[in-house]
Amino acid sequence: MAKAYEHMAHDRHWYRISGGVPLTGSVAAAGAKNSVTKLLVASLLTDKPCTLRRVPDILEVHLVLDMLTELGTTVEWSGPDEVTVHTPKITATTLPDAYSGVNRIPVLMIGPLLHRAGETLLPLPGGCTIGKRPIDFHLDGLGEMGAFVTQELRSVKVHADRLHGTHITLPFPSVGATENLLLAATLAKGTTVIHGAAVEPEIIDLVLFLQQMGALVNVETDRTITVEGVEKLRGAVHSVIPDRIETASFAALAVATDGRIEVQGAQQQHLVTFLNAIRRVGGDFAPTDDGLAFWRERPLTAVHLETGVHPGFMTDWQQPFVLALTQAEGTSTMHETIYEDRFGYTQQLAAMGANVALTDNCLGTGGCRYNRRGHQHSALITGPTKLHGAHLTIPDLRAGFAYIMAALVAEGTSTVAGTRYLERGYEDPVGKLRAVGAQIETIPTH
Ligand code: EPU
Repeated sequence: MAKAYEHMAHDRHWYRISGGVPLTGSVAAAGAKNSVTKLLVASLLTDKPCTLRRVPDILEVHLVLDMLTELGTTVEWSGPDEVTVHTPKITATTLPDAYSGVNRIPVLMIGPLLHRAGETLLPLPGGCTIGKRPIDFHLDGLGEMGAFVTQELRSVKVHADRLHGTHITLPFPSVGATENLLLAATLAKGTTVIHGAAVEPEIIDLVLFLQQMGALVNVETDRTITVEGVEKLRGAVHSVIPDRIETASFAALAVATDGRIEVQGAQQQHLVTFLNAIRRVGGDFAPTDDGLAFWRERPLTAVHLETGVHPGFMTDWQQPFVLALTQAEGTSTMHETIYEDRFGYTQQLAAMGANVALTDNCLGTGGCRYNRRGHQHSALITGPTKLHGAHLTIPDLRAGFAYIMAALVAEGTSTVAGTRYLERGYEDPVGKLRAVGAQIETIPTH
């Protein structure tokens, strides 16, 4: 069977999309990509089976399952969205070079592999189109826990007798670094205290899973996570939280096209900041029997938003929201404080008729790490603008959904390439978009 990473090399198909109609209907939220991939890594901490439910059928999950298989994990699907992973023995402590730069998951395996095998050599994630994305916080923290780390050009080599607990202060509440240290701390000797930790719902989902596995983890209200190391962890059965980025993407689509979309399974508690923003721009939402429905309540008007760590406005909500803002009256601002380079995608929107200007100033209430350093990290979006069909090439996952939205808002027909980036993180995008009335066809690339 082809390895999942082979599908990252080229598109299997393009999309042809005809836009200009309100989208209405109902879709089911998939499990969260940014939770499930970490839960799969956590399963490496035990020699017992772990079962995950509401597993999304996305390329990213298949990539991680392939990686686990390389390390000795057996993977058994017991339904379309339920998988059992079992690693009785670590059979390899390294991943093939082909996984270098593929995604951000291999470095999260350092802790589990050190605990199970004492050493590992893993591919580095590499930068991407949204920013440099270093992993210094991960490696510094692991070093403080007693890991010996040697970073090479494309990989990182780590060994340790046994990791030990310590106090670690993260310079920024990094999601990945928090997860990495949390995973490493569960089986470390003694207590690890992570100060300045990220507390995104996906991290809490990981904490819940680890607790079911037998870990002793406490999350305080001041971004402190305390982990008392235990000797052994056991298997667990867990349902992945619904994907709050996918939910927000369909919500923004409903508002942008003046339709009404219900997302079954959507959870208000994971979307509080987003729901406020949707209301302020002129949309609204209401609970349904099984989720949340979203629609446009009045003509959209400009808003001022900035992305931030949880409970702030997620950086991954930014792109679909910006697309909705192209349909709002007046000039909106969006200050991106998480990544230094996450507006590159707006260039192609401008070619469709959107009015988006970028600046390296902080257009928010506070400064951020990127103020006036040449990073175009604030956007002014002036609307409403009529968009027209175009040929678009998706540069990354979240920009990908914004491009699909642009094509659906635009009059006329668009073609979209780079679909593999979208499909690595959105489950069955074509099926779900059709379910809300989108006219979208796939065109095989060969
Ligand atoms: N950072 C450092 N050093 C580090 C780690 C992070 O400087 O060692 C910086 C990053 O460069 C970035 C900021 O800290 O500027 C935040 O990065 P973080 O570590 O929080 O992000 P991540 O763990 O790499 C995850 C998601 C992203 C999501 C961010 C923020 C996964 C696999 N990825 O990335 O999701 O945007 O958290 O919430 O969980 C996506 O799904 O499309 C996506 C990019």
